[in-house]
Amino acid sequence: MAPEKSPKPQQEVQQPDEGRRNFLKQSSLLTALAVAPPSLLKAAELRWDEKAVSYFEKVPLSLEVNGKAQQLTVEPRVTLLDLLREQLAQTGTKKGCDHGQCGACTVHVDGKRVLSCLSLAVMQDGKKVTTIEGLANVDQLHPMQESFIKHDGFQCGYCTPGQIMSGIACIREGHANSEDEIREYMSGNICRCGAYPNIVKAITEVKQGGQKV
Ligand code: FES
Ligand code: FES
Repeated sequence: MAPEKSPKPQQEVQQPDEGRRNFLKQSSLLTALAVAPPSLLKAAELRWDEKAVSYFEKVPLSLEVNGKAQQLTVEPRVTLLDLLREQLAQTGTKKGCDHGQCGACTVHVDGKRVLSCLSLAVMQDGKKVTTIEGLANVDQLHPMQESFIKHDGFQCGYCTPGQIMSGIACIREGHANSEDEIREYMSGNICRCGAYPNIVKAITEVKQGGQKV
């Protein structure tokens, strides 16, 4: 007995009505494009509609960043990290994971460490933000910066700004009393190069030196 022919796969079968509907849809779209005024097409191309909407959505924001008062307007969805890097050109703060998992974006808000990739800029209204650029006092590096250099606390340096900001916070929070404690409270800051032993030495020395951080 001859084997039965297997039925045609369903997706290959196009009903006459469906073909006509697709044709009508495409030709209506082409007609709409053909009769649209050139200015409308240009506006769509330049995405003016999105730009106009984002303009109206912006909200005012007052911040002090590294000692300088800033009056800004931002979209409510903008993170503190993107505001710092893209609007204020403070690119010392790094974007690693952008998901709160690496610590590269750590900054201080009112003296406390925060992951700027997880904070909306609008939540910081009226607050003081310090980034790695704001630590040094004119030509005098912050003691934690000095100590990182002295102890080779970095290799590629990408995680370093976040490590330094977190190291300072670790001391301020009273969590730098032993190497184990430092490691635990610095565990949110990932370094792919494995500079951890030197980072711990640097933080330990600043803590033991008793300088104000
Ligand atoms: S970039 Fe914010 S935690 Fe990684
Ligand atoms: S020094 Fe390379 S990732 Fe930290």
